[in-house]
Amino acid sequence: MGLKDDIARVLIPEQDIQKRVAELGAEINATYTDEDELILVCILKGAFMFLADLVRCMNVRHEINFMEISSYGTRAMSSGVVRILLDLEQNIDKRHVLIVEDIIDSGRTLDYVTRNLGTRGPASMRVCTLLNKPSRREIDVNLDFVGFEVPDEFVVGYGLDFAEDYRNLRFIGILREEAYRI
Ligand code: PRP
Repeated sequence: MGLKDDIARVLIPEQDIQKRVAELGAEINATYTDEDELILVCILKGAFMFLADLVRCMNVRHEINFMEISSYGTRAMSSGVVRILLDLEQNIDKRHVLIVEDIIDSGRTLDYVTRNLGTRGPASMRVCTLLNKPSRREIDVNLDFVGFEVPDEFVVGYGLDFAEDYRNLRFIGILREEAYRI
């Protein structure tokens, strides 16, 4: 028995992710110029793998920075309370910012991040997310670059976890109910 046995089925295979990430990279390249001195803000931990692949599909000049956000509770049952565990080390005043997320679910994390970063005076702020789960939205958020819309299933892999497991999978899979309803 391994972690892969907890996966009910593959939702997005590795090849499909790689193809879509390359398309997103091309969209971002077409949106910015080198003079924009773009800053990517990767929201840890889930977006680390997406960021690593995305920047390898980008040729527009950019810097990379990280923020870690915690939403108390588990992804299966979010409490809606959000706080910063690790803040940016960089001033974003008058800078062009692109937030990089793995998934937008209720929208609470992104709403908090955009309101927080918005107070720091960025020249522009856009959002790139690999996955979007609109059926679970509680707060309306604006998304500029979206990889895939996903159904209301418990998705893991390619950065996304359940209790810190499965982040290393190369694909996005649906977790078996028995694996998270303990
Ligand atoms: C996940 C994901 C988003 C957030 C989306 O992070 O990376 O940040 O949840 O959910 P929401 O739209 O309902 O706010 P999580 O809190 O699981 O932390 P992690 O990225 O460190 O795994």
